[in-house]
Amino acid sequence: MHIHHIAIAVKDLDKALEFYRDAMGVEVVGRREVPAEGVEIAFLPMGEAEIELLRPLHPDNSIGRFLEKRGEGIHHVCVLVEDIEAAAARLEENGARLLSDIKQHADGTRYVFIHPKSAYGVLMELYQKPRL
Ligand code: CO
Repeated sequence: MHIHHIAIAVKDLDKALEFYRDAMGVEVVGRREVPAEGVEIAFLPMGEAEIELLRPLHPDNSIGRFLEKRGEGIHHVCVLVEDIEAAAARLEENGARLLSDIKQHADGTRYVFIHPKSAYGVLMELYQKPRL
């Protein structure tokens, strides 16, 4: 198990890159709009993990509402697991609340979010990479 990414909600991606890329010196390996999720994302790998800067494409989606309510900052922490079904079952057996059933991205990555109330104020995401 290791941290796969830490997602940070930002209002202005170019401005955020002036800090993370230019001042911190983290390399940006990609930047793209993902209309299905309503965000533009910049990917900044740091070892095994990466920082993902998220900018909402609309003010009324979940990232937009997060910015409105909480301001810029850490939106979620994502942990890579071997078996997402087992991890989700274990969480539920231990009383944690999942935000939805396990879902799947176009590339086959399966994911689910854990309610921040169960994780001491942090929105946690679980990831399982597709088996090759
Ligand atoms: Co994520």
